[in-house]
Amino acid sequence: MLICPVCRKSLEINEKSASCSEGHSFDRAKEGYINLLTGNKKSGSLIGDNKDMAKSRRIFLEKGYYDFLALFLCEKIKELKGADKETPLNILDISCGEGYYTGFIKEKARQSVFGFDISKEMIKLGAKKYKDVLFFVGNISKIPVSDCSCDIGIHICAPFCEKEFARILKKDGYLLSAVPGKKHLIGLKEILYENVYENNDDITEYSSLKLVKSETISKTITVRSNEDILNLFKMTPYYYKTSKKDKEKLMTVENLTTQAEFIIRTFKRE
Ligand SMILES: C[S@@+](CC[C@H](N)C(=O)[O-])C[C@H]1O[C@@H](n2cnc3c(N)ncnc32)[C@H](O)[C@@H]1O
Ligand SMILES: [Zn+2]
Repeated sequence: MLICPVCRKSLEINEKSASCSEGHSFDRAKEGYINLLTGNKKSGSLIGDNKDMAKSRRIFLEKGYYDFLALFLCEKIKELKGADKETPLNILDISCGEGYYTGFIKEKARQSVFGFDISKEMIKLGAKKYKDVLFFVGNISKIPVSDCSCDIGIHICAPFCEKEFARILKKDGYLLSAVPGKKHLIGLKEILYENVYENNDDITEYSSLKLVKSETISKTITVRSNEDILNLFKMTPYYYKTSKKDKEKLMTVENLTTQAEFIIRTFKRE
């Protein structure tokens, strides 16, 4: 399924490296992931989310606050593709972050699961922990995955690249794309801001991906320590947008009850 980011020929993967028939070769890091970014972006460490954000995301997600989303996605995979086919499905977690959902899906769905992100720090954490998943560093604008090779693409709260998503899906493949719902983290916003707005839930239309279903799932969560609240905050775009003065309001909060809400859109290749 993986292709060479230089010549686009298929990659043969072994324990130490991945290489194509043209002689381009990519080492596997000691954690097992493969860096498939090329050119001046190759170092990868300063692109995408940084180490601190990766750690915050890892600590927060491991406490299970968003497991209702992970479980919902596993159920959707079963609903769309049936359980336990003879040939394992290829499931690709696009912009997978530190791999929490990737690892979760691998454990529950027992299929061939791959995850990639542009952030090397995120991928390093993922590869260290979820040994049954093949992780690679890559960019959604040029995903190093062959045409029509994925049964399911998972896409959670990340940038969208219609052309590439449509290209990598099999003809009968689906993209499950999760975005924050209107009231997602409204309780957090109520602490931070005087005027609180709901998230936008407008639907963008795509010519090469057909929306077949849109479902909203919601849960009231209570985040029970200041550390967890700050970890959650660092996972959100508000972390960048909030003034220093408003950020300080969170420093003494020990308990946060808020709605967590996601919209899961199922797309099929047109
Ligand atoms: C909000 S995080 C979500 C991560 C993960 N899906 C999750 O829900 O835990 C967004 C992710 O998109 C990644 N990202 C941003 N631009 C990207 C790109 N051009 N290609 C691949 N990943 C990208 C970031 O590094 C980050 O890990
Ligand atoms: Zn090559």
